Amino acid sequence: MEINGKVIIVTGSSAGIGLAAARLLCKNGAKIALVARSADQLEQVSQELPDSFAVAADLSMVDCVPQVITRIHGHYGHIDALVNNAGRAMHISIEKGDVQLYRQLLDLNVVSILYAMQCVIPIMRQQGGGVILNVSSGLSKRIAPGVGLYASTKYALNAITLTARLELAKDNIRVGLMIPGRTYGTQFAHKAVSLHEGPEAWQASAATHGDSPEHVAQKIMEALQTEAAETYADSVRPAS
Ligand SMILES: NC(=O)c1ccc[n+]([C@@H]2O[C@H](COP(=O)([O-])OP(=O)(O)OC[C@H]3O[C@@H](n4cnc5c(N)ncnc54)[C@H](OP(=O)(O)O)[C@@H]3O)[C@@H](O)[C@H]2O)c1
Repeated sequence: MEINGKVIIVTGSSAGIGLAAARLLCKNGAKIALVARSADQLEQVSQELPDSFAVAADLSMVDCVPQVITRIHGHYGHIDALVNNAGRAMHISIEKGDVQLYRQLLDLNVVSILYAMQCVIPIMRQQGGGVILNVSSGLSKRIAPGVGLYASTKYALNAITLTARLELAKDNIRVGLMIPGRTYGTQFAHKAVSLHEGPEAWQASAATHGDSPEHVAQKIMEALQTEAAETYADSVRPAS
């Protein structure tokens, strides 16, 4: 997909990877619909990015999703791409993970994304096509102790994404995965539902072994341009 002039929804665009992606895509000529909970932060970002439109919403309350998409569609009259980036971490053992918190995590990391896809698919079909990019995680490609609950949400997201890719190819709707690894300088560790190491230790490790949000944003833009099934950040590039 050509980026210039396109209407692109980026969820979780008040901070971190989503904010870096919104800035980069806007710089390349896209009109960005910004979605996150913090209205003040979104408003600031909206003032920075020309032709952007901010909708404050808590996507873990999944019933708000159709209204979010309807407002964005009403504003622009068109939706070319949806980047489902909003997400949180829950790094805790299988034994200790709180079941209610896990349900909330599933709602944000999986159910709200499924619902957003279901809302934009008819719009994109009517337009003749579109791109949906779901932000997963390198942890969905391996098994590691302590991160199974978070990883399980991304495993589910991978299955939904790659199945939708097959189902929607006939409608010219290209669905793909962006797979970041540890990314430093975001709010991910601070806003985690739970984290088995302190946010500072997590950030220090990410700074040594991980990628910057700007790098992941560049990969998100490439993923939209190439419409590939899977795009990896450098720190999780699979062995060829
Ligand atoms: N950072 C990493 O190392 C890493 C690695 C692999 C994958 N990822 C994935 O990359 C994505 C972005 O992560 P990040 O590192 O950029 O995290 P981040 O800095 O915490 O940003 C998360 C974004 O999502 C928004 N958000 C959180 N909960 C929300 C909710 N209930 N409703 C609406 N928006 C919500 C946040 O804004 P508000 O707080 O204003 O709502 C923020 O804009 C996530 O899906 C994450 O799983 C991150």
